[in-house]
Amino acid sequence: MASREQYLKLVDELTEHDRLYYVEATPAISDYEYDVMTKRLREIEGEHPDWTVAWSPSKRVGHEPLSSFPKVVRETPMLSLDNTYDEGELSDFCARVEKGLGGEQPTYVIEPKIDGLGIELVYQAGVFVLGSTRGDGTTGEDVTTNLRTVGGVALKLREPVDLTVRGEVFMSKKDFAALNERRAAAGEELFKNARNTTSGSLKLLDPNEVQKRPMSITLYEVVNGEAFGDSHFAVLARIRQLGLPTSEHNSEAHNWDELRVQVDQWAERRPSLPFDADGLVIKVDSFAQREQLGFTSKAPRWAIAYKFPAEQVMTVVEGIEINVGRTGAVTPVALLEPVETSGTTVKRASLHNWDQVARLGIGPGDTVLLEKAGEIIPQILRVVKSSEQPRFTPPTRCPSCDSLLVRQQDRVVLECPNRLECPGQLLQSVEFFAGRKQMNIDGLGEKACQALLEAGLVKNVADLFSLTTEQLMNLDRFAETSAQNLVDAIAHSRKTATFSRLLAALGVANIGGVAAKLIAARYRSMKELLAALDEDPTGQTLVEALSEIKGIGAVMAQALSDFLREPHTRKVLALLEERGLQPVEPISVIAADGHLVGKVFVITGTLSAPRGALKKRIEALGGKVTGSVSKSTDYLVAGDKTGKTKLAAAEKNNVTILDEIAFEQLLSRNNQQGP
Ligand code: IVH
Repeated sequence: MASREQYLKLVDELTEHDRLYYVEATPAISDYEYDVMTKRLREIEGEHPDWTVAWSPSKRVGHEPLSSFPKVVRETPMLSLDNTYDEGELSDFCARVEKGLGGEQPTYVIEPKIDGLGIELVYQAGVFVLGSTRGDGTTGEDVTTNLRTVGGVALKLREPVDLTVRGEVFMSKKDFAALNERRAAAGEELFKNARNTTSGSLKLLDPNEVQKRPMSITLYEVVNGEAFGDSHFAVLARIRQLGLPTSEHNSEAHNWDELRVQVDQWAERRPSLPFDADGLVIKVDSFAQREQLGFTSKAPRWAIAYKFPAEQVMTVVEGIEINVGRTGAVTPVALLEPVETSGTTVKRASLHNWDQVARLGIGPGDTVLLEKAGEIIPQILRVVKSSEQPRFTPPTRCPSCDSLLVRQQDRVVLECPNRLECPGQLLQSVEFFAGRKQMNIDGLGEKACQALLEAGLVKNVADLFSLTTEQLMNLDRFAETSAQNLVDAIAHSRKTATFSRLLAALGVANIGGVAAKLIAARYRSMKELLAALDEDPTGQTLVEALSEIKGIGAVMAQALSDFLREPHTRKVLALLEERGLQPVEPISVIAADGHLVGKVFVITGTLSAPRGALKKRIEALGGKVTGSVSKSTDYLVAGDKTGKTKLAAAEKNNVTILDEIAFEQLLSRNNQQGP
């Protein structure tokens, strides 16, 4: 049986072993001995739950999942730092500081800028009571429970002081690699980089999950630090003495020359750091001098972040892969001889588009210089040594469906125009087609689409409308009821479709629900739209007519015209029609959107279209057409050879007279609110 004194002594001993391990990096006992002590601690706490203290090492683990992180508002905001990538600017910073100090020479502190997450820890009477994320500086999130799992966060300091400290939580390169190894072994997806993983881990609601993410901490700032020393170095020494980890990689410089030499040395030192650092932080050491320099609205004048240039490595291009994206964009990706940089292996790098390929003049066998932009996405900077092999040339045909590729006006991207049948785009296009805002086919989500495509039952969206229950029941995914439900949902979609929904469902670039409605107010069915296209084989008339609709830009008009002229499109549209999909935009839908509701028109004179057609269009937008001009008339549409009496009557009754152009403008000034 243990006494309460023995229990408290055990807590203190474990706390001290934590400090030796995490702060001093000189463990005094083996992991095994530590585990035995922890086990004993748990036994005692099991027997005497009321003895348990808030700073017991047992508090680092095993809590119920949280439902959210409360907000923490701080009195002293966590500021950020001004950034520079340039030694010239760094020298300017020193000059500014020295000028601000009236020529006095400060001592500078040089610290690695750890690429982690800024946090704040609050201690009351030496006990850890609150830990929060940086958030927007003033308001952060209370992640105390998660921070307790971080070994370096002392749960109790060696003296009962009140203290608010700030620092960085991060994953060391070694811990990050080990975490990914464990995930690989468990068949889990690998994390891309340590910083984002740390950020995600700190915000996990289940502390048992957080436990699996090995995080470290370094502290570099004390709020109201003057109470703990008169300089940065003095304060760091003091908090280390209190039991908090500080960086071992800091150094000092006494003038610009010393500073520059050290900054230059960091280019070589950086890879040997046990964690990712994205730069250095240069700070004035003396608090008196810091006070003299003060702050701008965002950042202190006594510190600056000097960012490292992104790491660059060389490798060889093995080939090129051509990807068809979900919107038809055909993009080149360089396949590379695997190369290590910033802790990951790079095997591929997007070349973005074919202009970029031409600009780089890249070809197979070339040696290229590569950097990770923001240390995440690999980017090929230039060819260092060209091989003899022929250069890459843009494909002319889609690698997935062999369609002739097109280049949209003013765009560098090559596109596969076969939106509706290209296997590379099919899953996306069918799923989109069935979406709630498009054809609204219930039960046709990603998995169901995938099953239909894999079975070869659907080669384009029109095939949906010939599916039978029997066909579906042959697939593993569908039982009798679910098969029947899907067939019913498709029939329902066929019955309730409007032209604007169908048009939007086809997924033409930039033609979403709103644009489709605007177009359907002008052309009420696919038949009408195609007729307008076919009148002029160049498609130009349709592009012009569409561009006149307010809300439809030239790029959209061109995209739709190109799409409609595509033979694949025509084939699928014909199939849709054959399978009973010929929706007409109902007047009510248009009128509800129409901006001519309640307006009364009189049409007169010779116009370029039959009066009946104009009447239909006015009515489609909610307006009314009458035979003679009166007080209740709003507009007189006057063609050539309009009679004088009509014009006089219009003037007398204050009726707006529209020539044909003004009339078209009025019609296309359509309602542009959402669908
Ligand atoms: S000092 C007012 N020192 O970099 C001074 N920051 O934009 C505040 N960081 O938000 C920061 N290592 O999260 C400081 N040795 C270091 C740092 C460091 C990383 C982060 C910190 C801050 C950001 C600066």
